[in-house]
Amino acid sequence: QGTNRRRAALEEARMNKDLQAAGSLRTQLTNLFRLAINKAYPDLTDEPVVAACNNPKFGDYQCNNAMQLFAKLKGKEGAPKAPRDVASALVANLPPNELLSETSLAGPGFINIRLSNEFLSKRVSEMLKLGLQPPFSPDLSSKKCVVDFSSPNVAKEMHVGHLRSTIIGDTICRTLELCGAQVLRLNHIGDWGTQFGMLIQHMSELTPSADGGATGDESISDLMELYRAAKKRFDEDEGFKQRAREAVTALQSGDEKSLRMWRAICAASRKEFAAIYERLGVRVEERGESFYNPMLKAVVEELKEKGCAEESDGAICVFVEGQSIPLIVQKSDGGFGYASTDMAAIKHRLEVEKADWIIYVTDAGQAQHFDLVFSAAKKAGWIGTPESKAKIDHVGFGLVLGEDGKKFKTRSGDVVRLVELLDEAKARCTDTIRTRSQETGETVDEASLEHAASAMGYGAVKYADLKSHRMTNYKFSFDSMLDLKGNTAVYLLYAHARIAGIARKAEKDIDALAASTPIVVAHQREVDLALHLSRFPEAMEDMLQELTPNRLTDYLYELSERFNAFYVDCKVLGSEEEGSRLQLVEATARVMRQCFSLLGLIPLYRI
Ligand code: ARG
Repeated sequence: QGTNRRRAALEEARMNKDLQAAGSLRTQLTNLFRLAINKAYPDLTDEPVVAACNNPKFGDYQCNNAMQLFAKLKGKEGAPKAPRDVASALVANLPPNELLSETSLAGPGFINIRLSNEFLSKRVSEMLKLGLQPPFSPDLSSKKCVVDFSSPNVAKEMHVGHLRSTIIGDTICRTLELCGAQVLRLNHIGDWGTQFGMLIQHMSELTPSADGGATGDESISDLMELYRAAKKRFDEDEGFKQRAREAVTALQSGDEKSLRMWRAICAASRKEFAAIYERLGVRVEERGESFYNPMLKAVVEELKEKGCAEESDGAICVFVEGQSIPLIVQKSDGGFGYASTDMAAIKHRLEVEKADWIIYVTDAGQAQHFDLVFSAAKKAGWIGTPESKAKIDHVGFGLVLGEDGKKFKTRSGDVVRLVELLDEAKARCTDTIRTRSQETGETVDEASLEHAASAMGYGAVKYADLKSHRMTNYKFSFDSMLDLKGNTAVYLLYAHARIAGIARKAEKDIDALAASTPIVVAHQREVDLALHLSRFPEAMEDMLQELTPNRLTDYLYELSERFNAFYVDCKVLGSEEEGSRLQLVEATARVMRQCFSLLGLIPLYRI
């Protein structure tokens, strides 16, 4: 009870601070209703449930506590007769505030809330003056987050699954960063394992020289070709199999030539991965599986000592309650595998990196693996204890399918090369921009064309990936992702350029305008736009809650729709309301750019 009251007092103090620091509209309304609940029913605790209204006809937000509270009050002295009475009492006890213009009761006891136009105007004005920076809630400043994403495998083509991980992971990192977190972006590359024995043995038999023919300049296709041939020999030739096994041992025991070859193979792959990251504008630090090699033995020992791991059929396993299979941390031949490495990695991230939140971004197929790893880490007491309350999440995603809804491959049935995908997206955008500029008569120079086509092409690939819920499979289609009218990056980038153009045409210094001229929203379209602009922090919150980037794309697309509706009905340039409306235009452009930045898109100003 006391805590509740203290919390309410704290919230009240916070509300009086500047608007921005108070967090999203939803948070502010939640705070208001916390005060109301506390005042109306000091003996009860109930966390306010405030959500955006599904139907804007009824209100902007809704508070749904009355029914719950009614149930809690039942049987007590002077208990209300119906949930509606509770709802009325809450409304009557709302502290004086500038947020609400209207409340109404609906259904058994819902409270519908309409925000005041003055408040919305002020809110947008604050956004222009103070920027869109944090604190958002949750406030992640001073929190350390480790995001494990992208993570392709050496000597293999980086495939569309890795592309999804790269794109989704990057957006998650950017969102965490905007919320003030310190983010360690880790590329857990598959750079260690038995496959290297095969490859090294095969290569050195082909080229008996000091470097075994591994120069570091091989293309991924060369490496894949070599790997395929090595695998074939491994499966068919007993002698080779034996020699490949010995090569693994040699590599693991630090044989110089083997290590040299391994390094060259990794370097060759790294170049190809780097080219993709460069194009996508993604930064990620390489810390592959091999990094954890020196720790594996001790980790398995620790698990055994703590009684978490036991021998089963010659292998060392961690059995976890509720799971049909154990986590194998050491194979029966004594070797360490993918799971052993992930155990070492999680320990390292918790104990050395001091992570408060670890996020793994991989295809949904690995969900069980991570479930096991997380449970094993809990069993070992590395996490989920009073000393270590770190959060840990696996962010899974569905498949990328071809346009026919089947597995995504080239016409000849090969794995799709990412570089080629990106090339094609860019080439198609180059055509689009050329055609458009011929239509409008505006000439574009080669450098701008190049810049715009990359921004659009790569942006389109990213956006198409982010806009569907990450768990659903989506079809990779150039036609739909490059659609000039739909919910696509191309459409949004054009929309932004147009919006930025309006402010440019006015030749007004918007910051000076924001300082001198108040925003007044009155027309319904202005109100709709201002409300949505004010909801940006909420989109961030939703995205962080479930780590679903489509919350951001949904928000962004809706923003552009509301802007269009506004622009059709409300004259800006040369109108009486020009000063106020230009600020709405500018705020829209800025919020769009903030969304672009979170989604890894580069804004264009003139296309
Ligand atoms: N290299 C793996 C793959 O291609 C992904 C690694 C994900 N990260 C991890 N810590 N297991 O599927």
